[in-house]
Amino acid sequence: MVAAGLLAFSFIALALGAPTWDALHVHDARSTAPAGYKASGAPDPNEVLNLRIALKKDNTPLVQKLLDVSTPGSKNYRKFLTKAQVAALTAPSDDGVKAINAWLQKNGVKATPGATNQWLNIELPVSKANALLDADFTVYKNPTTGVTTIRTLAYSVPASVRPYLDFIYPATAFPVQAKKGISSVHVSGTFHNSTHVARADASCATAITPTCLQQFYNVPTDPATQTSSTMAVSSFVNSFASTSDLSGFLTQFRPDIPSSTSFSVTSVDGGSNDETQPSTEGSLDIQYTVGIATDVPTTFFTVGTQNDGDVTGFLDLVNNLIALDSPPSVFTTSFGFPEELVDPGLANNICNAYAQLGARGTSIFFSSGDSGVDDGQGGSCTTFRPTFPSGCPFVTVVGATQGVPPESAADFSSGGFSNVFAVPDYQSGAVSGYLGKLGSTNAGLFNTSGRGYPDISAAGVSYQVNIGGTVTDVSGTSASTPFVASTVALLNDRLVAAGKAPMGFLNPFLYSTGASAFTDITTGNNPGCGTDGFPANEGWDPVTGLGTPDFNKLLTAVGL
Ligand SMILES: *[C@@H]1O[C@H](CO)[C@@H](O)[C@H](O)[C@H]1NC(C)=O
Ligand SMILES: *[C@@H]1O[C@H](CO)[C@@H](O)[C@H](O)[C@H]1NC(C)=O
Repeated sequence: MVAAGLLAFSFIALALGAPTWDALHVHDARSTAPAGYKASGAPDPNEVLNLRIALKKDNTPLVQKLLDVSTPGSKNYRKFLTKAQVAALTAPSDDGVKAINAWLQKNGVKATPGATNQWLNIELPVSKANALLDADFTVYKNPTTGVTTIRTLAYSVPASVRPYLDFIYPATAFPVQAKKGISSVHVSGTFHNSTHVARADASCATAITPTCLQQFYNVPTDPATQTSSTMAVSSFVNSFASTSDLSGFLTQFRPDIPSSTSFSVTSVDGGSNDETQPSTEGSLDIQYTVGIATDVPTTFFTVGTQNDGDVTGFLDLVNNLIALDSPPSVFTTSFGFPEELVDPGLANNICNAYAQLGARGTSIFFSSGDSGVDDGQGGSCTTFRPTFPSGCPFVTVVGATQGVPPESAADFSSGGFSNVFAVPDYQSGAVSGYLGKLGSTNAGLFNTSGRGYPDISAAGVSYQVNIGGTVTDVSGTSASTPFVASTVALLNDRLVAAGKAPMGFLNPFLYSTGASAFTDITTGNNPGCGTDGFPANEGWDPVTGLGTPDFNKLLTAVGL
C-alpha cells in the first residue's frame, strides 16, 4: 500500500519534472550578424532548411594515429589507415547518436546519415526549425557580395543532447566567400640578378615557365609511371580550366610531352567546368599541375556554390575525398578565407577532416594567401589577420618567393600565426627559434601561441599561363602551391615505383628529416597592416617557411 503510493507519487513527480529536466539550453549564439549582413525579414515559414548536425567527438585518438603514421622514425611511418580504420576512430558514441535521434524523433524529425559518421542531416521547414531549436531563422542580405541567406543569431538544444552535439550547421555561422591566392601586386623589377643564375635560363628572371621551375628545383621532366599515385586539384567559385588552353600551354612550354596530356573532372555540390570560360585561377592550377607532374593522374574537383557559401564547399570537398576508397595522394587548393570570418567550430571540424584525410595518406597543400600579414578582406587592421585554413596544423601551407635563386620572399606572401589553432609539437622548435630572433618586432600584433604558417614556399611571381589562348603573367601563392604539390606528386611516383608508400601528411617530416631538402630563404618580408610584416631569416620564418624544395635532396631525404 505504502509502496504503491510512493510509486505513483514518484511517477507523477517525474512526469511533471520532465520538461525542466530536458529544458532547452542556448548552444550557440552571436550578438549580431557579421559585418556586411543586414536582417531583411522573416523567411517563408514553409521554406525547407537543410541542416547538418555535427556530433561531438574527441579528436585526440585520430590525431595521435595521424602523427604516428606521419612522423619519420615511428614504426608505423607511412602505414596509412583504411577508410574503415579512420571511420572507427572518428565514430561518435552510440549513446550520443541514440540521444540525438530520440530527441529528433520525439519532435517528428527524421535524421539521415551525413557525409561522414560525424554528421547527421535533417530537413525541416523554417517554422519547425524555429520551434525545435528555439531559434529565429531570418533572411540576411549582404549588399556588397550579393549573398542572401537564412540564418539565426542563436539556437538551443535540450540538455539530453547537449553533451553529444557539437554544432548545427548552417545556423549561426554566416557564409564567407573564398579568396583566390592570386596577387594583383606587380613586383617585376625587384628581381635579384645574381651570379647564381647559371642554373636557370636568363629569361626566368622575368617569366616563370615549367622549364624554369624544373631548373630552379631540380624537378624531373620524366613522366610518372605509377597510376596509384594521383593528384586532386580544387576549384571553387567557378574557377574553370580549359583543355584547349592546357594543350596550347603544353605545346609551348612542355614540347617534350604530348599536348593531349589532360585531366579528369569531378563535380561536387553541382559544380561544373565551363571550358569556354577559363579563369585565371583554374588555368594556373591545372597548367602547373598537369604541366609539372608529368603523367600523374590528375582530377579537377569543381565545387558548386549551391550549398550556401564557399566554406560549405570546403567542408563538402574534404568529406567527399574522405569517402573515397582510394583518396588522392596529393590534394592542392589555392583558395582560402580570412580566419576571423570562419566560425571556429566549423574551422575545427574542417581541420579535423583534413587530419582524417592525412591519416589515409594524402599530402594536403594550401596557399597561404597574398596579403602579407593581412588576410585580404579589406579595411584597416589593428592587429595582423591570419588566413584559413593556413592555421590548421594538419595541412601543408605554401608561401611565395620571387626572383631566380637565391630567391627572396615575395612581399605579398601571406604568413603569420593563427588565433584559432595552437602551435603543434612538430613546429614548436621552429616557431620559438623564430620568435627569439624576432625580439620585440611586431609585439602585440600577433598571437605568439598560434600555429605559424607557411610551412614551405616556392617561386610565385610571373608564371606564364595560357588563359583563353593568350599567355598571361600570373603571380601569387596560388602559383607556388600547385607547383609544390606537383613536386611531391612526382616524389610519390618514385616512392611507389620503389615499392614504398607515398609521403602522406608532410609536416612532421618537413620540420625534421625533410628540412635538409629545402633551400632556406633569408631575405625579404611580407608587409601589411601598416607594418613591414615579418622578416624572412635563417631557418623557418612566417613568410617563406622552411624554404623552397630541391627534388634531388628530397629523394635523398626519403632514402631513394
Ligand atoms: C643581369 O646581370 C647581367 C650581368 O650584369 C646582365 O647582362 C643581365 O642583363 C642582367 N639581367 C637582368 C634580367 O637584369
Ligand atoms: C591565441 O591562440 C590561441 C590558440 O593557439 C587561442 O586559444 C587564443 O584565443 C588566441 N588569442 C587571441 C587573442 O586570439
